[in-house]
Amino acid sequence: MDNLADDPAVSLGALRAILGALPMAVILVDAQERVILANAAARVLLGEGIEGRVLSAVLRHPAFVAAIEETLAEGRASDVRVTLPDKGGETHLAVRSAAIPAPAAGQAGGAAGGRAALVSFEDMTALEQSVSMRRDFVANVSHELRTPLTALVGFIETLRGAARDDPAARERFLGIMEREAGRMIRLVSDLLSLSRVEAEERRRPADRVEVAALLRSVMASHRDPAAAAGVALTLDAPDGPVTLRADADQLVQVFHNLIENALKYGASGGAVTICLTRIEREPVLRGPAVEIAVTDRGEGIDPLHLPRLTERFYRVDTHRSREKGGTGLGLAIVKHIVNRHRGRLRIDSEIGKGSTFRVILPAG
Ligand SMILES: Nc1ncnc2c1ncn2[C@@H]1O[C@H](COP(=O)(O)OP(=O)(O)OP(=O)(O)O)[C@@H](O)[C@H]1O
Ligand SMILES: [Mg+2]
Repeated sequence: MDNLADDPAVSLGALRAILGALPMAVILVDAQERVILANAAARVLLGEGIEGRVLSAVLRHPAFVAAIEETLAEGRASDVRVTLPDKGGETHLAVRSAAIPAPAAGQAGGAAGGRAALVSFEDMTALEQSVSMRRDFVANVSHELRTPLTALVGFIETLRGAARDDPAARERFLGIMEREAGRMIRLVSDLLSLSRVEAEERRRPADRVEVAALLRSVMASHRDPAAAAGVALTLDAPDGPVTLRADADQLVQVFHNLIENALKYGASGGAVTICLTRIEREPVLRGPAVEIAVTDRGEGIDPLHLPRLTERFYRVDTHRSREKGGTGLGLAIVKHIVNRHRGRLRIDSEIGKGSTFRVILPAG
């Protein structure tokens, strides 16, 4: 700031009203490095009783204190990044300190002389998280694609060289290549369907869907794999139609994924049951609902994994899931579709006993 003396100082009261109207955390620090004003957001961020405290007691962070000292001494604005430990994570703050004429204590304003530092805090946590999520996501996708691509390149080389005149080996390698290419196609189409669901997440579905008939048709498409795995696939549904406002194609995807998982990971139990029930009043959804539970009696899932099961690419046993052609996106898609329907997904599982995946959809 070049000409502090020429600017009439604002009164502290006026400044309090202005800063109080801002959504971001802002404090005002006087030349003695004391906090003379903190708006509501700043008191939430830094603690209720911060007005009147010295700066170093408010936030013990050397770079933060140094930035404000620089502003107070030289009138220069300065920016600093501060990371605070937070319950279960970190809060990332972009802090800007800028010089303003020190406010007059009285109501009328007027010349107070000297300089104060107006310090604002921008919470960058959500942004940092989304940047790191995107980074992880790209790394995961690249990794998932690189494995089958490396295999394909290797087999192409072998087919051109060592296996050139060996029809039996050629057949076998072509079979593997077909499988790897199929895996990439599945991965890409799962990613596309995930991004389509995400794009529509705010739009509520409008079709009227009869759930029992929908479940029967999804089950029909799994009849052969179920028989091959020695699993009895049964539906337990009330008499008469059960209709919902839903996106039929997306519900097909949900139950396709859940039944496929039950058959893939829970076949050892020999039975997969789908149970459709009407609920008069669902406490969490606060109204009538429909519950569809897909239960297997297979090996179950360690409770340790349950909170992360619906994350993209998360698998309990990566090797085994890959072997079965899985991409680890099935439950992430399920979760997004259920969210779009304003429903809930609940997972109960016990090692050695099996798992139940419950989809609860509002029927209001
Ligand atoms: N019924 C189940 N019993 C035991 N484990 C399960 C069951 N359903 C899912 N899992 C575990 O959860 C993981 C994530 O499931 P998800 O459907 O998201 O991915 P996937 O089946 O591996 O791949 P994809 O569905 O994309 O083909 C699976 O890898 C598996 O380890
Ligand atoms: Mg799956």
